[in-house]
Amino acid sequence: MLRLPGLIDPHVHVREPGATHKEDWGTATAAALAGGFTAILAMPNTAPPITDEATLHIALQAAAAKAHCDYAQYFGATANNAASIAPLASQAAGLKMYLNQTYGSLRLDDMTAWHEHFRRWPAHAPLVAHAERHTLAAAILFAALHRRPVHIAHVSHREEILLIRAAKAHGLPVTCEVTPHHLFLTAADAAHIGPGRSEVRPVLASEADRQALWDNLDVIDCFATDHAPHTLAEKDSDNPPPGFPGLETALPLLLTAVQQGRLSMEDLIARMHTNPRRIFGLPSQPETWVEVDPDARWEIPLQGWHTRANWSPFAGMQVQGQVRRVVLRGKVVYEDGKVLASPGAGRPLRG
Ligand code: DOR
Ligand code: ZN
Repeated sequence: MLRLPGLIDPHVHVREPGATHKEDWGTATAAALAGGFTAILAMPNTAPPITDEATLHIALQAAAAKAHCDYAQYFGATANNAASIAPLASQAAGLKMYLNQTYGSLRLDDMTAWHEHFRRWPAHAPLVAHAERHTLAAAILFAALHRRPVHIAHVSHREEILLIRAAKAHGLPVTCEVTPHHLFLTAADAAHIGPGRSEVRPVLASEADRQALWDNLDVIDCFATDHAPHTLAEKDSDNPPPGFPGLETALPLLLTAVQQGRLSMEDLIARMHTNPRRIFGLPSQPETWVEVDPDARWEIPLQGWHTRANWSPFAGMQVQGQVRRVVLRGKVVYEDGKVLASPGAGRPLRG
């Protein structure tokens, strides 16, 4: 048995409030534990979106009642909430700015609004940007001008990881995360995943892009799932929403890469525990660990998951490594497929 520290996922779409038929705080955090994550940071593109004190309270109330693992909730940046949310920064996981097309209504196009958020959000509080391609260059410029860190969500293109490499070499305060789906899938996989099911933002990219992420592993600070549950009925509809469930498959996929010599166990722990904890300023979770059977070989199934979305874009892939037990603050909270933590056992990581 292999023992890992409790994993941290800084990028999870919980869907509560507003779309609990896809996921809620109970099912998202059950999926987290099943995947070896003992802490998740929840994205703000819910319905309503989390953009002020009242909506933050709604999300945190639901989390307090239902969460099986520890958690924090992001604020979403809007055209007019920069001044009102900045004083509440210590209560949130961070600020999320959507600078490119996304699911929900939070996209911010006007750079005047970007400026207000970069100016007002406290420099020590995490600021995460969905910023692809040319927008990424703008986000890095804003961080440099405002002398504050920016964390880039789900980097997926070669040109992006190379720009982040150059920015870091220049001493600019930028960190980044990459998803398992951009490390293990490409646009070519859409053929077998299916047209609606393979919709995701950022889109699945080319083989050259995928390889560039692996070739620049040293530039990648975190692995983050961007767990974005939608039901299969929605994915197979005429208007499929973008996003993949990912909490329960990230660790097995990455452990398989360790077995194959594509990264080391130290690389994995740095990107799924140490770096996210540092970048997001998270407290330690004492007496917390994940027990993994490194030899268990299995095929990722389409269904049978803890996430309410209950499907996987990785179905059919062979993996090696399985979560057997998760211990959170001295208590066994997950064992052999069963979540043992009661709803509400998870604790807030902020405030
Ligand atoms: O594929 C995605 N799904 N990308 C996003 O940026 C949002 C997410 C969602 O919330 O479904
Ligand atoms: Zn996301």
